[in-house]
Amino acid sequence: MNNEFPAEIELLKLLEQALQAAQHAYAPYSDFRVGAALRLTTGEVVTGANVENVSYGLTICAERSALVQAISRFGPEIQIEAVAVANLNSAASPPCGACRQVLAEFILPDAPVIFHAAGGERTMAFRELLPLAFDMKRK
Ligand code: THU
Repeated sequence: MNNEFPAEIELLKLLEQALQAAQHAYAPYSDFRVGAALRLTTGEVVTGANVENVSYGLTICAERSALVQAISRFGPEIQIEAVAVANLNSAASPPCGACRQVLAEFILPDAPVIFHAAGGERTMAFRELLPLAFDMKRK
């Protein structure tokens, strides 16, 4: 834990919601069950779990699963103000590179991202996780 992010308690709650969401994962191939929780600027929390496929490359990660659900429920104007990622395997769980790029489209750059890491949970600002995200709008 550190004091860089003011609402640390709220982030821990979000991490708990991500852990709950991981219970719904479909991961028969990797046995790695992941949950993600996104808090939107409206205060709504949307969760998702990874959904694997026998054609492995078709697997969808928990973070993208949550993002697709958030847009399906609230539309494309959503803004994500915090993210939590957890897994049921007691392993480190920072969002993968593909998920970072997809989150970049809808997340506030300073949004905290909390995830399981070696020795406990870790929180980083999104902009630290994906510096120089590809963005055609950027000059
Ligand atoms: N996975 C996620 O759900 N999120 C990530 O950020 C990394 C990986 C899933 C995909 C696959 O079902 C399993 O974890 C093992 O890679």
